[in-house]
Amino acid sequence: MCGIIGYIGGKKSTDILVDGLRRLEYRGYDSCGVALIDPGQALYLKRVSGRVDALDKLIASDPIKKSAAGIGHTRWATHGVPSEDNAHPHTDCSGQVVVVHNGIIENYLELKEKLEKAGHRFKSETDTEAAVHLVEEKIKALNATGRSGDGDQLEPVFFEAVRRAAAELKGSFAMAVIWAKCPNMILAARQHSPLVIGLGNGENFVASDVSAFLKHTKRTVFMNDGELAVVKKDSVGYFTFQGKKAEHDPVTIQWDSTMAEKGGYKHFMLKEIHEQPGSVENTLRGRLLPLKGDVLQREINLPSELIKSVKGVQIIACGTAYHAGLVGRYVFENFGLQTSVDFASEFSDRARMVGADVLTIAVSQSGETADTIYAVREAKASGSKILAITNTLGSTLTREADFVLYTHCGPEIGVASTKAFIGQIAAMYVLAIHFAVMRGTIFDADARTYANELLKIPRLIEDALEGEKAIARVADRVSGSEHFLFIARHINFPIALEGALKIKEISYVHAEGYAAGEMKHGPIAIIYKNMPVLAVATTSSVLDLVAGNIEEAKARGAEVIAIVDEDSRKRIKASQYIVVPKTLEILSPLLTVVPLQLFAYFVALAKKCDIDKPRNLAKSVTVR
Ligand code: AGP
Repeated sequence: MCGIIGYIGGKKSTDILVDGLRRLEYRGYDSCGVALIDPGQALYLKRVSGRVDALDKLIASDPIKKSAAGIGHTRWATHGVPSEDNAHPHTDCSGQVVVVHNGIIENYLELKEKLEKAGHRFKSETDTEAAVHLVEEKIKALNATGRSGDGDQLEPVFFEAVRRAAAELKGSFAMAVIWAKCPNMILAARQHSPLVIGLGNGENFVASDVSAFLKHTKRTVFMNDGELAVVKKDSVGYFTFQGKKAEHDPVTIQWDSTMAEKGGYKHFMLKEIHEQPGSVENTLRGRLLPLKGDVLQREINLPSELIKSVKGVQIIACGTAYHAGLVGRYVFENFGLQTSVDFASEFSDRARMVGADVLTIAVSQSGETADTIYAVREAKASGSKILAITNTLGSTLTREADFVLYTHCGPEIGVASTKAFIGQIAAMYVLAIHFAVMRGTIFDADARTYANELLKIPRLIEDALEGEKAIARVADRVSGSEHFLFIARHINFPIALEGALKIKEISYVHAEGYAAGEMKHGPIAIIYKNMPVLAVATTSSVLDLVAGNIEEAKARGAEVIAIVDEDSRKRIKASQYIVVPKTLEILSPLLTVVPLQLFAYFVALAKKCDIDKPRNLAKSVTVR
């Protein structure tokens, strides 16, 4: 997830762009830049590998005299490590067409190969650069280069070139494009990434979200997928990628800019819980079909002979990432690949158990967790190859690992991990299916079934989020409890652990996640009258056993809040029910975790805790 901004009007463009990028830094902050056109059609381009403050200093050291249209970008790297070369804006070969982009261009490799064959010279490792050279190629194809005359005569050519390029790109993109030969126009295109237009007086704005320009105007148009905006200082026109005119009525935003950074949510954690459909969608994007392995091979270069020959997988991680690893074990072993999971901090004594015949998978949102990095080094010393699953390009873990599979969840600001967790689980499914196809432990038809069901999950998460108000009521009612118990079986046992961790870390109350089948071996003694027990009881091969465990808890006076689907609801006798959509048992953690995240959030809200910055905790634990 990155932040883009564009400005065209009479004010000092660099001040507006830099201020807007500061307000977008929560969307990504590993590098940034601006590009502006001066009236002489010269392009002014400044980029840094670092934060917006560094960009501001660079601009101050070499200010632009007078500018017209300008665009800016603050990056959360998805393709190409954080560096000045990979920082946006990106220019074409002529140095006159410039693009900033948020999203993932799925077909960038094939476009890049085609464009390089046509003579284009790429300067970065990013997917975005394919877009700017594609626009250049379209302009050439429209035979515009070399034409005389001022920008206005070229504007229709610029529009048609960007329209054709946008229609050819696949994946997700919100992009703004400027061309030095057309200094009075910014073109903006939206496909599966947010893009809004700010309407001012004698000035207009383009941005990833309203926080970038809210101090200048509250009149906003939220663009739709498949649309192109022609932004001038006194007018904005909207068109579909097919060139048809589109109509938009502006809305007036009531948020202040702080609320806008949180998308109108009270906390980043709640916003990020609601971003989970996108986290799963972007992590799955372009990776599941075709299942013959060439997609992931090309992306992570994991040698197929390694996949076929390993005798097992060793997963190491901490905290929530460890819980994702536990889900991963059920998934890998479902396809016959023996898997161990260890806390990274407890791995030292077992490092000698891994070797060249075991693939080590390190899971870490930040890619900077000291325990995980230390454990990775020990696994490497034992001869094991390392595959990292991380959300952060350029992180230490990516440099220690032999192979990397990124979750594309965007920056996770809340200390309590939510969207990164669900992205990690989604990555586990992608890997497990890919490995099973390569190792021949799954029929193609079954692989497609799993893939097709996985692709439905983002919409099902949205349905699960519909239950927010009911969950808030339940959470509020039990928020005074001093102890909480979470129980589940099989692939949802890690979700019980995760639910307990969530409520511990943001509400500061005691909570325990337990294998439901283990309760009778001692822990059931802790249950007291009205103790809240959250039980994951969705349709599964062990539902009757879970039903029995719920009865046992109720018999001791517990208030059982059951996470069910519409079928299992009929077979469970609980005090309260939270219903999630039904999916395959093996995919259910992607849905059952959502109400537990919301439950923890609303208990913490009722207790007035500092939800985004809980006491004693850090977003990334970089000490052992
Ligand atoms: C989870 O909500 C916590 N913030 C914590 O357990 C976290 O998952 C753990 O520290 C691992 O962080 P990482 O994924 O960045 O390695």
